[in-house]
Amino acid sequence: MVTITFRWADGSERTVEAKPGESVMEVAKRHDIDVIVAECGGSCACATCHVMFEPKTFAKVGAPSEIEAAMLDFAEERSETSRLSCQIQVEQELDGLVVQLPTRQQ
Ligand code: FES
Repeated sequence: MVTITFRWADGSERTVEAKPGESVMEVAKRHDIDVIVAECGGSCACATCHVMFEPKTFAKVGAPSEIEAAMLDFAEERSETSRLSCQIQVEQELDGLVVQLPTRQQ
């Protein structure tokens, strides 16, 4: 089992269980993390599943693909460590991941 902590912009947090193979977006939706809208359902076509990471964590999660990076241009609070959560697959190695949520999606 993998645990993921979602951290809201106000600093509040919620730690949930995730299964390897699902996306971080799917984990958020399954646990009703409502800041993750995921309008397109995970096909990298909306940017409403935008999340951010601490720099050290971002290095572990990895940089976005070219297509994902282009879609991230539509995310309001895009930062150097932004990703689309539908494009991040849960792996055992990501146990303890802390996901920073934006204030809101576009
Ligand atoms: S759910 Fe639409 S880009 Fe991730």
